[in-house]
Amino acid sequence: MKTYRIATIPGDGIGKEVVPAGREVMQALAEGSDFRFQFEDFDWGGDYYRRHGRMMPDDGLDALRGQDAILFGSAGDPGIPDHITLWGLRLKICQGLDQYANVRPTRILPGIDAPLKRCAPGDLDWVIVRENSEGEYAGVGGRVHQGLPIEAATDVSMMTRAGVERILRFAFRLAGSRPRRHLTVVTKSNAQRHAMVMWDEIAAEIAREFPDVSWDKELVDAATARMVNRPSSLDTIVATNLHADILSDLAAALAGSLGIAPTGNIDPERRGPSMFEPIHGSAFDIMGKGLANPIGTFWSVAMLLEHLGETAAAARLMRAIEAVTADPALHTRDLGGQATTAEVTQAVRERLPAPQTAGAPAA
Ligand code: IPM
Ligand code: MG
Repeated sequence: MKTYRIATIPGDGIGKEVVPAGREVMQALAEGSDFRFQFEDFDWGGDYYRRHGRMMPDDGLDALRGQDAILFGSAGDPGIPDHITLWGLRLKICQGLDQYANVRPTRILPGIDAPLKRCAPGDLDWVIVRENSEGEYAGVGGRVHQGLPIEAATDVSMMTRAGVERILRFAFRLAGSRPRRHLTVVTKSNAQRHAMVMWDEIAAEIAREFPDVSWDKELVDAATARMVNRPSSLDTIVATNLHADILSDLAAALAGSLGIAPTGNIDPERRGPSMFEPIHGSAFDIMGKGLANPIGTFWSVAMLLEHLGETAAAARLMRAIEAVTADPALHTRDLGGQATTAEVTQAVRERLPAPQTAGAPAA
């Protein structure tokens, strides 16, 4: 029997509610399957910071390296500045383990009331690939003369040929694995005339390695309008760290809720574990109330299972997720419903198809 070592890092806010829910569903998936999970829980985050003066131990990455995957909740604490919680935990893990490809699938799940009136559910089926190691999040910059009239600050967006080549190669490969086989490369090369022009040039080079994948270019501002006006013209989208951060929130909103959107921070070379998380963040306004939508975490778990090669288990979970979103009585508050985290979790567990029926066509 295969045993997967899974690190769970709930972090802060509703992360502490949705990660245990994700773990519960993973246990249920393993029952009767030919694999099992061995969980190790890490209490890193805001409370850890108050006790130790840092968000995670200095050697924390070493504890993660031997794991097969990481399930993450959220980083953010009302009492600690956001740039400290983010850089001290999530970015430290993503960048420290060089999880350079951030993957964000977006679709309109059954039963979800999406806001675009001229968009049939099948018209919006995207995967956004976000460069996850450099660019605007490179951490290069500085601040001098603080508080003085001559104060100055820079955040330098640093792009390397190696970094751009590898994310574009990953994106072309991913696009080629989807039915549409189409990639849209998003930049801002009209205004940013150095790094973004380099992106465009490298995209044209890498495209030659993937003759089966069609591709086009879009400027990031025009990409927002295209997402709204012509959603079916997009399939796989690749963009810089910040551009894709913004586009993926728009994508999640257009698909009906930030509460259901998943993400994977992937190391495609598998030198270490990849990390999966819902994109909704800490949501302090509802934390501790049992109201958080766990669907974003469950979908992230499905991505985790795919990454481990457990595609049948991932498919079983997606079937259960879609059966639950299809029922408005099982919608949480963010979707306009009244269901609790526990009720949605229980409902997903109950709707998991038995292991042996995995892959069988839906009734
Ligand atoms: C995301 C989030 C984070 C990011 C925030 C919390 C800093 O918005 O995962 O998209 O920008 O990376
Ligand atoms: Mg974001």
